[in-house]
Amino acid sequence: MGSRIVATGRATPRTRVTNHELARRMDTTDEWVRTRTGIEQRYVMSSGESLVDIAAEASRTALQRAGVAASQLDAIVVGTVSSDFGFPSFACQLQHRLGLDTIPAFDVAAACSGFVYALSVADSTMRAGDYERLLVVGADALSTMVDWNDRSTAVLFGDGAGAVVMVREPSDRGVLGSLLRSSGAYWDLLYVRNRGVRTTIDAEARRVNEDAIRMKGPELFKIAVRSMEDISRKVAERAAVPLEEIALIVPHQANLRIINAVAERLGLGADKVFTNVNRYGNTSAASVPIALDEAVEARRIHDNDLIMLNACGGGLTWGANLIRW
Ligand SMILES: CC(C)(COP(=O)(O)OP(=O)(O)OC[C@H]1O[C@@H](n2cnc3c(N)ncnc32)[C@H](O)[C@@H]1OP(=O)(O)O)[C@@H](O)C(=O)NCCC(=O)NCCS
Repeated sequence: MGSRIVATGRATPRTRVTNHELARRMDTTDEWVRTRTGIEQRYVMSSGESLVDIAAEASRTALQRAGVAASQLDAIVVGTVSSDFGFPSFACQLQHRLGLDTIPAFDVAAACSGFVYALSVADSTMRAGDYERLLVVGADALSTMVDWNDRSTAVLFGDGAGAVVMVREPSDRGVLGSLLRSSGAYWDLLYVRNRGVRTTIDAEARRVNEDAIRMKGPELFKIAVRSMEDISRKVAERAAVPLEEIALIVPHQANLRIINAVAERLGLGADKVFTNVNRYGNTSAASVPIALDEAVEARRIHDNDLIMLNACGGGLTWGANLIRW
């Protein structure tokens, strides 16, 4: 008895910001951002917008496509580090926004690996027989945590949410396995202090630097490539699946150069890797489910295809899920 993703959905804030627009605000260029990261534009939160609303929109799309009523859900698991509150969790707010009550709802905090972690947790609880239908969401708004004067981080992040509906079923299809890893020794490669302060790009008040996201980009770059290669090999090995049989990798969209380096090390051609980092930037836990939704929409994923999701993020955390679609 396993768990299968039966539908996906995504949503973003309204405001689209191109590299050219950022170049008018800070000392950067479209050329630098495009060539160093692959990013051309991103969607960012404006004041008055709520990430919970955006996650609810992605969730409703996935539910509608699945033909599952919200009232049929048994639990909600959200990969996020962007709750407006220290507590309650983002998942509790989303549960209420979806008009639900009493079903368990909880967050998994693993930064950019949040969705891969949440999917693994969801799959395990379904295998244990606890739940029949689950909503798994990745939602983040890291643009509200950057210092817009720090060009080394401000150009990288975007906001959004992706959602999947999972059902428990006796089938060869579904999640074949997941592997999760973390290394707190590297905590200071990417972090933000939790002071509950959030500011949107259009806010008057500017965030002071020590409250903003701090990142050691080049060091993180090398570890991201190594760890995503390693976890991808291991999750495939454990399921006895040769890498050549993978139809599509849907990786965390942090940087096109990281994605390409991982694919090259795994010996997989560009046709086997889905990328949309050019249009979204790094949306943290939302990046994998947004990419998955677009890959499904673009018909890059077919029934029975072997699909791999992988990610690396603050923590450090990293992980991969192997899915027979
Ligand atoms: C952040 C990242 C894009 C920087 O790329 P890089 O090639 O390593 O660039 P560096 O940080 O070495 O900077 C190179 C130069 O560009 C400059 N630079 C940095 N950001 C810039 C920007 N937005 N515009 C223009 N120049 C910029 C730097 O100041 C540096 O200048 P210097 O050589 O005069 O000191 C890259 O390291 C990266 O993607 N790291 C991983 C980040 C990540 O994935 N984070 C999330 C993980 S989930």
